[in-house]
Amino acid sequence: MKQSLEEALRASIRTIPDYPRPGIQFRDITTLLGNARAFRRSVDELVHPYAGLKIEKVAGIEARGFILGGAMAHQLSSGFIPIRKKGKLPHETVRVAYSLEYGLDEIEMHRDAVNAGDKVILVDDLIATGGTAEAAVKLLRQMGAEIVAACFVIDLPDLGGRAKLEALGVEVNTLISYE
Ligand code: PRP
Ligand code: ADE
Repeated sequence: MKQSLEEALRASIRTIPDYPRPGIQFRDITTLLGNARAFRRSVDELVHPYAGLKIEKVAGIEARGFILGGAMAHQLSSGFIPIRKKGKLPHETVRVAYSLEYGLDEIEMHRDAVNAGDKVILVDDLIATGGTAEAAVKLLRQMGAEIVAACFVIDLPDLGGRAKLEALGVEVNTLISYE
């Protein structure tokens, strides 16, 4: 019997209790990425709404957003922008601080990574509090990008990230939720 995408994702995503802190149920997509069919179906579903929209750039958030975003950019014939943790990029950057479900961090991107008016899709593996994605939206908008949508494999809706992005006027596309 054909497995729905949701069933395939639930079967291929691994949950690690109490990682990296007690009380966190860590949703591990390495098992999804290692499953050729689940990986392909996820990327196909993520790009589907945007095919033909002439998306200039896919912006992926370090680290797992790089893997999904690279595959999406290839499929959409778009460029790729790495949004990185601070101190990793060699040229002039813009930087924003943000808070996480389990800590504080800063992300940055190269100042010349987007041109004003570029249509950009933002991608990461998971949205929790939305702090990381909100910071990425600020970076991209600061440089004049038009964010067409933010895409995630996993939504943790109880943590409010989707609502936070939607309040900023960002369309959010996710494949699976864990309550
Ligand atoms: C995870 C995930 C997102 C972020 C989501 O990354 O890949 O980037 O947390 O959380 P938020 O919605 O509450 O901001 P993590 O910070 O664990 O970094 P890593 O990808 O470098 O492991
Ligand atoms: N990032 C923030 N919360 C997370 C979770 N529960 N699982 C995986 N990545 C996360």
